[in-house]
Amino acid sequence: MGDGYSFVVVANRLPVDRTTGEDGGQQWTRSPGGLVSALAPIARTSGGAWVGWTGAADDDTGPQEVDGIQLRPVPLSAQDVDQYYEGQSNSTIWPLFHDLVEQPVHRREWRQAYEAVNRRFAEATAEVAADGATVWVHDYQLLLVPAMLRSLRPDLRIGFFLHIPFPPVELFMQLPRRAELLRGLLGADLVGFQRPLAAQNFLQLAGRLLGLQPHDDRVCYEGRTVVARAFPISIDVGEIDRLAADPDVQLESERLRADLGDNRRLLLGVDRLDYTKGIEQRVEAFGELLAEGAVSNDEVVLVQVATPSRMRVAQYQQLRERVEREVGRINGEYGAVGRVPVHYLFQSRSPEELVALYLATDVMLVTPLRDGMNLVAKEFVAARRDELGALVLSEFTGAAAELDDAFLVNPHDVEDLKRGMVAALDAPPDERAVRMRRMRARVHGHDVDRWARQFLATLDDPDRAET
Ligand code: G6P
Repeated sequence: MGDGYSFVVVANRLPVDRTTGEDGGQQWTRSPGGLVSALAPIARTSGGAWVGWTGAADDDTGPQEVDGIQLRPVPLSAQDVDQYYEGQSNSTIWPLFHDLVEQPVHRREWRQAYEAVNRRFAEATAEVAADGATVWVHDYQLLLVPAMLRSLRPDLRIGFFLHIPFPPVELFMQLPRRAELLRGLLGADLVGFQRPLAAQNFLQLAGRLLGLQPHDDRVCYEGRTVVARAFPISIDVGEIDRLAADPDVQLESERLRADLGDNRRLLLGVDRLDYTKGIEQRVEAFGELLAEGAVSNDEVVLVQVATPSRMRVAQYQQLRERVEREVGRINGEYGAVGRVPVHYLFQSRSPEELVALYLATDVMLVTPLRDGMNLVAKEFVAARRDELGALVLSEFTGAAAELDDAFLVNPHDVEDLKRGMVAALDAPPDERAVRMRRMRARVHGHDVDRWARQFLATLDDPDRAET
Protein backbone atom coordinates (compact mmCIF):
# COMPACT_ATOMS: atom_id res chain seq x y z
CA MET A 1 0.00 0.00 0.00
CA GLY A 2 2.71 2.41 1.11
CA ASP A 3 4.55 2.38 -2.21
CA GLY A 4 1.48 2.80 -4.43
CA TYR A 5 0.48 5.83 -6.49
CA SER A 6 -0.44 9.12 -4.89
CA PHE A 7 -2.91 10.08 -7.66
CA VAL A 8 -5.24 7.54 -9.23
CA VAL A 9 -7.79 8.15 -11.99
CA VAL A 10 -10.58 5.59 -12.22
CA ALA A 11 -12.72 5.53 -15.36
CA ASN A 12 -14.57 2.88 -17.32
CA ARG A 13 -12.13 3.31 -20.18
CA LEU A 14 -8.36 3.48 -20.11
CA PRO A 15 -7.03 6.48 -22.06
CA VAL A 16 -5.54 4.31 -24.80
CA ASP A 17 -6.36 2.75 -28.16
CA ARG A 18 -4.89 -0.45 -29.52
CA THR A 19 -3.08 0.26 -32.76
CA THR A 20 -0.81 -1.67 -35.10
CA GLY A 21 2.84 -0.62 -34.89
CA GLU A 22 5.33 -0.26 -37.77
CA ASP A 23 6.54 -3.81 -37.15
CA GLY A 24 2.96 -5.07 -37.56
CA GLY A 25 2.66 -5.83 -33.83
CA GLN A 26 -0.12 -4.59 -31.55
CA GLN A 27 0.63 -1.61 -29.33
CA TRP A 28 -1.21 0.87 -27.13
CA THR A 29 -1.24 4.57 -27.94
CA ARG A 30 -2.75 7.40 -25.96
CA SER A 31 -6.27 8.26 -27.12
CA PRO A 32 -7.01 11.78 -28.33
CA GLY A 33 -9.28 13.91 -26.15
CA GLY A 34 -9.29 16.68 -23.60
CA LEU A 35 -9.75 14.61 -20.45
CA VAL A 36 -6.69 12.54 -21.21
CA SER A 37 -4.55 15.51 -22.12
CA ALA A 38 -5.56 17.33 -18.91
CA LEU A 39 -4.97 14.41 -16.60
CA ALA A 40 -1.91 12.88 -18.25
CA PRO A 41 0.52 15.63 -17.12
CA ILE A 42 -0.91 15.56 -13.60
CA ALA A 43 -0.67 11.77 -13.52
CA ARG A 44 2.91 11.93 -14.79
CA THR A 45 4.22 14.56 -12.39
CA SER A 46 2.43 13.31 -9.30
CA GLY A 47 3.24 9.64 -9.75
CA GLY A 48 -0.17 8.68 -11.04
CA ALA A 49 -1.98 5.62 -12.29
CA TRP A 50 -5.15 5.09 -14.33
CA VAL A 51 -7.51 2.21 -13.57
CA GLY A 52 -9.91 1.23 -16.39
CA TRP A 53 -11.05 -1.18 -19.08
CA THR A 54 -9.19 -1.60 -22.38
CA GLY A 55 -12.46 -1.64 -24.34
CA ALA A 56 -12.16 -5.27 -25.47
CA ALA A 57 -13.98 -8.22 -23.88
CA ASP A 58 -11.88 -10.99 -22.31
CA ASP A 59 -8.69 -8.97 -22.71
CA ASP A 60 -5.91 -10.11 -20.40
CA THR A 61 -3.57 -7.15 -20.96
CA GLY A 62 -1.51 -6.63 -17.81
CA PRO A 63 -0.24 -3.37 -16.27
CA GLN A 64 1.39 -1.10 -18.86
CA GLU A 65 3.06 2.24 -19.06
CA VAL A 66 1.91 4.42 -21.96
CA ASP A 67 3.27 7.91 -22.45
CA GLY A 68 4.37 8.14 -18.82
CA ILE A 69 1.04 7.00 -17.34
CA GLN A 70 0.77 3.76 -15.42
CA LEU A 71 -2.22 1.81 -16.68
CA ARG A 72 -3.98 -0.79 -14.54
CA PRO A 73 -6.49 -2.67 -16.73
CA VAL A 74 -9.66 -4.07 -15.16
CA PRO A 75 -10.64 -7.01 -17.39
CA LEU A 76 -14.28 -7.44 -18.40
CA SER A 77 -15.71 -10.74 -19.67
CA ALA A 78 -18.12 -10.79 -22.62
CA GLN A 79 -20.92 -11.18 -20.08
CA ASP A 80 -19.70 -8.16 -18.08
CA VAL A 81 -19.69 -6.11 -21.28
CA ASP A 82 -23.20 -7.26 -22.04
CA GLN A 83 -24.67 -6.69 -18.56
CA TYR A 84 -22.59 -3.98 -16.87
CA TYR A 85 -21.57 -1.84 -19.88
CA GLU A 86 -24.27 -2.32 -22.53
CA GLY A 87 -26.96 -3.19 -19.97
CA GLN A 88 -27.03 -1.28 -16.69
CA SER A 89 -24.68 1.56 -17.77
CA ASN A 90 -25.97 2.22 -21.26
CA SER A 91 -29.52 0.87 -21.36
CA THR A 92 -30.62 1.84 -17.85
CA ILE A 93 -28.61 4.71 -16.37
CA TRP A 94 -27.67 6.54 -19.60
CA PRO A 95 -31.25 7.02 -20.90
CA LEU A 96 -32.64 7.79 -17.43
CA PHE A 97 -29.99 10.42 -16.71
CA HIS A 98 -30.70 11.97 -20.12
CA ASP A 99 -34.33 12.76 -19.22
CA LEU A 100 -35.77 9.54 -20.69
CA VAL A 101 -34.93 10.51 -24.28
CA GLU A 102 -35.26 6.73 -24.72
CA GLN A 103 -37.01 4.30 -22.39
CA PRO A 104 -34.64 2.81 -19.77
CA VAL A 105 -34.64 -0.98 -19.39
CA HIS A 106 -34.47 -2.43 -15.87
CA ARG A 107 -33.00 -5.90 -15.32
CA ARG A 108 -31.99 -7.49 -12.04
CA GLU A 109 -29.00 -9.35 -13.53
CA TRP A 110 -27.64 -6.11 -15.02
CA ARG A 111 -27.76 -4.47 -11.61
CA GLN A 112 -25.91 -7.38 -10.09
CA ALA A 113 -23.22 -7.26 -12.80
CA TYR A 114 -22.91 -3.48 -12.36
CA GLU A 115 -22.32 -3.93 -8.65
CA ALA A 116 -19.81 -6.75 -9.18
CA VAL A 117 -17.83 -4.80 -11.80
CA ASN A 118 -17.88 -1.62 -9.69
CA ARG A 119 -16.46 -3.72 -6.85
CA ARG A 120 -13.63 -4.94 -9.06
CA PHE A 121 -12.80 -1.36 -10.04
CA ALA A 122 -12.80 -0.38 -6.35
CA GLU A 123 -10.57 -3.31 -5.43
CA ALA A 124 -8.11 -2.63 -8.25
CA THR A 125 -7.93 1.01 -7.10
CA ALA A 126 -7.49 0.07 -3.44
CA GLU A 127 -4.53 -2.08 -4.47
CA VAL A 128 -2.62 0.61 -6.35
CA ALA A 129 -3.35 3.73 -4.27
CA ALA A 130 -0.66 4.92 -1.85
CA ASP A 131 -1.45 5.85 1.75
CA GLY A 132 -3.62 8.96 1.77
CA ALA A 133 -3.68 9.12 -2.05
CA THR A 134 -6.09 11.24 -4.06
CA VAL A 135 -8.45 9.19 -6.21
CA TRP A 136 -10.61 10.68 -8.96
CA VAL A 137 -13.49 8.46 -10.13
CA HIS A 138 -15.31 9.31 -13.38
CA ASP A 139 -18.82 8.96 -14.70
CA TYR A 140 -22.05 6.99 -14.57
CA GLN A 141 -20.53 3.58 -15.17
CA LEU A 142 -18.93 3.74 -11.71
CA LEU A 143 -21.51 5.32 -9.39
CA LEU A 144 -20.96 2.72 -6.65
CA VAL A 145 -17.17 2.94 -6.63
CA PRO A 146 -16.72 5.88 -4.19
CA ALA A 147 -18.51 4.12 -1.30
CA MET A 148 -16.93 0.75 -2.05
CA LEU A 149 -13.51 2.32 -2.16
CA ARG A 150 -14.05 4.24 1.06
CA SER A 151 -14.94 1.07 2.94
CA LEU A 152 -11.78 -0.62 1.61
CA ARG A 153 -9.52 2.41 2.10
CA PRO A 154 -10.82 5.07 4.53
CA ASP A 155 -7.46 6.87 4.27
CA LEU A 156 -8.08 8.03 0.67
CA ARG A 157 -9.31 11.41 -0.53
CA ILE A 158 -12.02 10.51 -3.07
CA GLY A 159 -13.43 12.76 -5.79
CA PHE A 160 -16.14 11.84 -8.28
CA PHE A 161 -17.06 13.69 -11.47
CA LEU A 162 -20.24 12.99 -13.45
CA HIS A 163 -19.78 13.83 -17.14
CA ILE A 164 -23.48 13.45 -18.01
CA PRO A 165 -26.53 15.26 -16.60
CA PHE A 166 -27.81 14.36 -13.13
CA PRO A 167 -31.59 13.91 -13.35
CA PRO A 168 -34.26 15.68 -11.32
CA VAL A 169 -35.33 13.88 -8.13
CA GLU A 170 -38.56 12.44 -9.63
CA LEU A 171 -36.61 10.74 -12.40
CA PHE A 172 -33.87 9.35 -10.18
CA MET A 173 -36.56 7.93 -7.91
CA GLN A 174 -37.61 5.57 -10.73
CA LEU A 175 -34.34 3.62 -10.48
CA PRO A 176 -34.49 0.28 -8.70
CA ARG A 177 -32.07 0.28 -5.73
CA ARG A 178 -31.83 4.04 -5.98
CA ALA A 179 -30.67 4.58 -2.38
CA GLU A 180 -27.70 2.31 -2.94
CA LEU A 181 -26.63 4.31 -6.01
CA LEU A 182 -26.92 7.55 -4.07
CA ARG A 183 -24.94 6.08 -1.17
CA GLY A 184 -22.32 5.05 -3.71
CA LEU A 185 -21.77 8.68 -4.67
CA LEU A 186 -21.88 9.87 -1.08
CA GLY A 187 -18.76 7.78 -0.50
CA ALA A 188 -16.85 10.62 -2.18
CA ASP A 189 -15.55 13.77 -0.45
CA LEU A 190 -16.37 15.87 -3.51
CA VAL A 191 -19.00 15.13 -6.16
CA GLY A 192 -18.59 17.28 -9.27
CA PHE A 193 -21.21 17.98 -11.93
CA GLN A 194 -21.33 19.88 -15.22
CA ARG A 195 -23.96 22.37 -14.05
CA PRO A 196 -25.10 23.92 -10.75
CA LEU A 197 -28.61 22.53 -11.30
CA ALA A 198 -27.24 18.99 -11.31
CA ALA A 199 -25.47 19.57 -8.00
CA GLN A 200 -28.76 20.89 -6.58
CA ASN A 201 -30.64 17.83 -7.86
CA PHE A 202 -28.12 15.62 -6.10
CA LEU A 203 -28.35 17.45 -2.78
CA GLN A 204 -32.15 17.52 -2.92
CA LEU A 205 -32.14 13.80 -3.59
CA ALA A 206 -29.97 13.22 -0.52
CA GLY A 207 -32.64 15.02 1.49
CA ARG A 208 -35.59 13.17 -0.08
CA LEU A 209 -34.17 9.69 -0.20
CA LEU A 210 -31.99 9.51 2.91
CA GLY A 211 -33.46 12.27 5.05
CA LEU A 212 -30.15 14.16 5.09
CA GLN A 213 -30.08 17.91 5.54
CA PRO A 214 -28.04 19.60 2.88
CA HIS A 215 -26.97 23.19 3.37
CA ASP A 216 -25.30 25.37 0.75
CA ASP A 217 -23.17 23.08 -1.39
CA ARG A 218 -22.67 20.27 1.12
CA VAL A 219 -24.26 17.56 3.15
CA CYS A 220 -23.18 15.69 6.25
CA TYR A 221 -23.20 11.92 5.77
CA GLU A 222 -21.91 9.28 8.19
CA GLY A 223 -19.90 11.88 10.08
CA ARG A 224 -18.18 13.27 6.96
CA THR A 225 -18.88 16.28 4.78
CA VAL A 226 -19.66 15.65 1.13
CA VAL A 227 -19.37 18.70 -1.13
CA ALA A 228 -21.38 18.90 -4.38
CA ARG A 229 -20.41 21.58 -6.87
CA ALA A 230 -20.41 22.34 -10.60
CA PHE A 231 -17.18 22.16 -12.62
CA PRO A 232 -18.07 22.63 -16.30
CA ILE A 233 -15.59 20.54 -18.27
CA SER A 234 -13.73 21.91 -21.27
CA ILE A 235 -11.26 21.00 -23.99
CA ASP A 236 -7.54 21.22 -24.60
CA VAL A 237 -7.73 24.63 -26.27
CA GLY A 238 -4.01 24.75 -27.09
CA GLU A 239 -4.17 21.43 -28.93
CA ILE A 240 -7.17 22.45 -31.06
CA ASP A 241 -5.52 25.79 -31.78
CA ARG A 242 -2.32 24.03 -32.84
CA LEU A 243 -4.26 21.77 -35.23
CA ALA A 244 -6.17 24.73 -36.64
CA ALA A 245 -2.86 26.50 -37.39
CA ASP A 246 -1.32 23.42 -39.02
CA PRO A 247 -0.81 24.05 -42.79
CA ASP A 248 -1.68 20.41 -43.60
CA VAL A 249 -4.98 20.71 -41.74
CA GLN A 250 -5.72 23.99 -43.53
CA LEU A 251 -4.93 22.41 -46.88
CA GLU A 252 -7.24 19.52 -46.08
CA SER A 253 -9.95 22.02 -45.16
CA GLU A 254 -9.60 23.75 -48.54
CA ARG A 255 -9.72 20.41 -50.32
CA LEU A 256 -12.94 19.52 -48.47
CA ARG A 257 -14.50 22.82 -49.48
CA ALA A 258 -13.57 22.26 -53.12
CA ASP A 259 -14.92 18.68 -53.04
CA LEU A 260 -18.23 19.77 -51.55
CA GLY A 261 -18.62 22.66 -53.99
CA ASP A 262 -16.93 25.98 -53.29
CA ASN A 263 -20.10 27.95 -53.84
CA ARG A 264 -22.17 25.89 -51.41
CA ARG A 265 -22.37 26.76 -47.73
CA LEU A 266 -21.44 23.94 -45.39
CA LEU A 267 -23.49 22.88 -42.38
CA LEU A 268 -21.75 20.33 -40.16
CA GLY A 269 -22.76 17.89 -37.43
CA VAL A 270 -20.20 15.79 -35.52
CA ASP A 271 -21.55 13.37 -32.93
CA ARG A 272 -21.35 9.86 -31.60
CA LEU A 273 -24.33 8.10 -33.16
CA ASP A 274 -26.43 8.43 -30.00
CA TYR A 275 -30.14 9.16 -29.55
CA THR A 276 -29.31 11.96 -27.09
CA LYS A 277 -27.58 13.93 -29.85
CA GLY A 278 -30.71 14.87 -31.82
CA ILE A 279 -29.24 13.75 -35.17
CA GLU A 280 -32.58 12.52 -36.42
CA GLN A 281 -34.36 15.80 -35.65
CA ARG A 282 -31.49 17.79 -37.20
CA VAL A 283 -31.57 15.82 -40.45
CA GLU A 284 -35.35 16.07 -40.52
CA ALA A 285 -35.18 19.86 -40.07
CA PHE A 286 -32.66 20.13 -42.91
CA GLY A 287 -34.92 17.98 -45.12
CA GLU A 288 -37.86 20.28 -44.41
CA LEU A 289 -35.82 23.37 -45.32
CA LEU A 290 -35.04 21.73 -48.67
CA ALA A 291 -38.67 20.70 -49.15
CA GLU A 292 -39.91 24.21 -48.44
CA GLY A 293 -37.32 25.78 -50.74
CA ALA A 294 -35.83 27.81 -47.86
CA VAL A 295 -32.47 26.36 -48.95
CA SER A 296 -31.49 24.48 -52.11
CA ASN A 297 -29.07 21.69 -52.91
CA ASP A 298 -27.05 24.13 -55.02
CA GLU A 299 -26.56 26.54 -52.14
CA VAL A 300 -26.01 24.35 -49.07
CA VAL A 301 -24.69 20.97 -48.07
CA LEU A 302 -24.90 19.10 -44.77
CA VAL A 303 -22.03 16.89 -43.62
CA GLN A 304 -22.99 14.66 -40.72
CA VAL A 305 -20.20 12.66 -39.08
CA ALA A 306 -21.82 9.98 -36.92
CA THR A 307 -19.17 8.07 -35.00
CA PRO A 308 -20.14 4.43 -34.37
CA SER A 309 -20.94 3.95 -30.69
CA ARG A 310 -22.42 1.16 -28.49
CA MET A 311 -23.59 -0.58 -31.63
CA ARG A 312 -24.63 -3.79 -29.88
CA VAL A 313 -27.32 -1.92 -27.95
CA ALA A 314 -30.69 -2.27 -29.73
CA GLN A 315 -31.69 1.39 -29.38
CA TYR A 316 -28.47 2.47 -31.13
CA GLN A 317 -29.03 0.03 -34.00
CA GLN A 318 -32.58 1.30 -34.43
CA LEU A 319 -31.40 4.90 -34.41
CA ARG A 320 -28.84 4.10 -37.10
CA GLU A 321 -31.53 2.58 -39.29
CA ARG A 322 -33.82 5.57 -38.87
CA VAL A 323 -31.08 8.13 -39.58
CA GLU A 324 -29.80 6.26 -42.63
CA ARG A 325 -33.31 5.86 -44.05
CA GLU A 326 -33.96 9.60 -43.67
CA VAL A 327 -30.60 10.57 -45.21
CA GLY A 328 -31.31 8.23 -48.13
CA ARG A 329 -34.76 9.72 -48.58
CA ILE A 330 -33.48 13.32 -48.59
CA ASN A 331 -30.64 12.55 -50.97
CA GLY A 332 -33.02 10.65 -53.25
CA GLU A 333 -35.53 13.48 -53.36
CA TYR A 334 -33.30 16.55 -53.51
CA GLY A 335 -29.95 15.32 -54.85
CA ALA A 336 -28.47 15.50 -58.34
CA VAL A 337 -25.84 13.31 -60.00
CA GLY A 338 -22.53 14.29 -58.38
CA ARG A 339 -24.19 16.56 -55.86
CA VAL A 340 -26.08 15.30 -52.80
CA PRO A 341 -27.46 17.47 -50.00
CA VAL A 342 -26.41 15.20 -47.09
CA HIS A 343 -22.97 13.60 -46.76
CA TYR A 344 -23.38 11.05 -44.00
CA LEU A 345 -20.24 9.44 -42.58
CA PHE A 346 -20.75 6.55 -40.17
CA GLN A 347 -17.05 6.62 -39.31
CA SER A 348 -14.57 7.77 -36.70
CA ARG A 349 -12.41 10.68 -37.81
CA SER A 350 -8.99 11.75 -36.51
CA PRO A 351 -8.64 15.05 -34.62
CA GLU A 352 -6.84 16.47 -37.70
CA GLU A 353 -9.74 15.57 -39.99
CA LEU A 354 -12.29 16.98 -37.55
CA VAL A 355 -10.50 20.29 -37.25
CA ALA A 356 -10.21 20.47 -41.06
CA LEU A 357 -14.00 20.00 -41.19
CA TYR A 358 -14.56 22.65 -38.50
CA LEU A 359 -12.47 25.12 -40.51
CA ALA A 360 -14.42 24.42 -43.69
CA THR A 361 -17.78 24.97 -41.97
CA ASP A 362 -20.19 27.89 -42.27
CA VAL A 363 -22.71 26.68 -39.70
CA MET A 364 -21.93 24.11 -37.01
CA LEU A 365 -24.98 22.22 -35.75
CA VAL A 366 -24.74 21.00 -32.15
CA THR A 367 -28.33 20.16 -31.33
CA PRO A 368 -28.58 17.37 -28.71
CA LEU A 369 -31.89 16.70 -26.99
CA ARG A 370 -29.90 16.49 -23.77
CA ASP A 371 -26.14 16.63 -23.16
CA GLY A 372 -24.08 17.04 -19.99
CA MET A 373 -21.69 19.47 -21.70
CA ASN A 374 -20.88 18.81 -25.40
CA LEU A 375 -17.26 19.32 -26.23
CA VAL A 376 -17.75 19.46 -30.02
CA ALA A 377 -19.28 22.93 -29.58
CA LYS A 378 -16.20 24.10 -27.68
CA GLU A 379 -13.81 22.47 -30.16
CA PHE A 380 -15.49 24.22 -33.06
CA VAL A 381 -15.17 27.59 -31.33
CA ALA A 382 -11.53 26.96 -30.39
CA ALA A 383 -10.70 25.97 -33.98
CA ARG A 384 -12.08 29.18 -35.50
CA ARG A 385 -9.03 31.40 -35.18
CA ASP A 386 -10.42 33.23 -38.24
CA GLU A 387 -13.45 34.26 -36.12
CA LEU A 388 -15.73 33.06 -38.90
CA GLY A 389 -18.42 30.42 -38.74
CA ALA A 390 -21.67 30.29 -36.76
CA LEU A 391 -22.73 27.87 -34.06
CA VAL A 392 -26.29 26.58 -33.70
CA LEU A 393 -26.48 25.15 -30.20
CA SER A 394 -29.15 23.29 -28.26
CA GLU A 395 -30.39 24.90 -25.06
CA PHE A 396 -30.30 21.44 -23.51
CA THR A 397 -26.50 21.16 -23.49
CA GLY A 398 -24.25 22.17 -20.61
CA ALA A 399 -22.26 24.19 -23.17
CA ALA A 400 -25.24 26.54 -23.74
CA ALA A 401 -24.75 28.03 -20.27
CA GLU A 402 -21.31 29.28 -21.36
CA LEU A 403 -21.80 29.77 -25.11
CA ASP A 404 -24.95 31.85 -25.04
CA ASP A 405 -23.68 33.84 -28.02
CA ALA A 406 -24.48 30.84 -30.20
CA PHE A 407 -27.76 30.64 -32.11
CA LEU A 408 -29.65 28.80 -29.38
CA VAL A 409 -32.41 26.37 -30.34
CA ASN A 410 -34.89 23.95 -28.82
CA PRO A 411 -34.08 20.72 -30.69
CA HIS A 412 -37.38 19.10 -29.67
CA ASP A 413 -39.11 21.66 -31.89
CA VAL A 414 -38.27 21.11 -35.57
CA GLU A 415 -39.61 24.58 -36.43
CA ASP A 416 -37.21 26.16 -33.96
CA LEU A 417 -34.32 24.09 -35.32
CA LYS A 418 -35.11 25.34 -38.81
CA ARG A 419 -35.37 28.92 -37.54
CA GLY A 420 -31.94 28.61 -35.87
CA MET A 421 -30.31 27.16 -38.98
CA VAL A 422 -31.72 29.88 -41.23
CA ALA A 423 -30.81 32.62 -38.74
CA ALA A 424 -27.23 31.34 -38.61
CA LEU A 425 -27.01 31.11 -42.42
CA ASP A 426 -28.49 34.57 -42.88
CA ALA A 427 -26.68 36.45 -40.10
CA PRO A 428 -24.45 39.25 -41.42
CA PRO A 429 -20.72 38.43 -41.22
CA ASP A 430 -20.02 41.09 -38.61
CA GLU A 431 -22.72 39.74 -36.31
CA ARG A 432 -21.28 36.24 -36.66
CA ALA A 433 -17.79 37.57 -35.90
CA VAL A 434 -18.97 39.36 -32.74
CA ARG A 435 -20.68 36.21 -31.50
CA MET A 436 -17.64 34.08 -32.32
CA ARG A 437 -15.22 36.46 -30.61
CA ARG A 438 -17.22 36.36 -27.38
CA MET A 439 -17.45 32.58 -27.45
CA ARG A 440 -13.74 32.28 -28.12
CA ALA A 441 -12.94 34.49 -25.14
CA ARG A 442 -15.02 32.23 -22.91
CA VAL A 443 -13.44 29.00 -24.17
CA HIS A 444 -9.92 30.43 -23.94
CA GLY A 445 -10.42 31.43 -20.31
CA HIS A 446 -11.71 28.01 -19.29
CA ASP A 447 -9.75 25.14 -20.71
CA VAL A 448 -9.63 21.57 -19.48
CA ASP A 449 -6.42 22.05 -17.56
CA ARG A 450 -8.04 24.75 -15.46
CA TRP A 451 -11.08 22.49 -14.98
CA ALA A 452 -8.93 19.62 -13.67
CA ARG A 453 -6.92 21.89 -11.38
CA GLN A 454 -10.04 23.49 -9.91
CA PHE A 455 -11.60 20.13 -9.23
CA LEU A 456 -8.46 18.79 -7.57
CA ALA A 457 -7.88 21.97 -5.55
CA THR A 458 -11.47 21.76 -4.27
CA LEU A 459 -11.02 18.10 -3.43
CA ASP A 460 -7.90 19.04 -1.52
CA ASP A 461 -9.65 21.82 0.40
CA PRO A 462 -13.21 22.88 -0.54
CA ASP A 463 -13.00 26.05 1.52
CA ARG A 464 -9.77 27.36 0.08
CA ALA A 465 -10.21 26.56 -3.60
CA GLU A 466 -11.14 29.51 -5.73
CA THR A 467 -14.57 28.98 -7.37
C1 G6P B 1 -19.83 9.90 -22.96
C2 G6P B 1 -19.62 9.40 -21.55
C3 G6P B 1 -18.24 8.77 -21.39
C4 G6P B 1 -18.01 7.75 -22.48
C5 G6P B 1 -18.21 8.36 -23.85
C6 G6P B 1 -18.04 7.35 -24.99
O1 G6P B 1 -19.06 11.02 -23.20
O2 G6P B 1 -19.82 10.45 -20.62
O3 G6P B 1 -18.12 8.16 -20.12
O4 G6P B 1 -16.73 7.19 -22.38
O5 G6P B 1 -19.51 8.90 -23.91
O6 G6P B 1 -18.89 6.26 -24.81
P1 G6P B 1 -18.32 4.78 -24.65
O7 G6P B 1 -19.53 3.97 -24.24
O8 G6P B 1 -17.81 4.40 -26.00
O9 G6P B 1 -17.25 4.78 -23.62
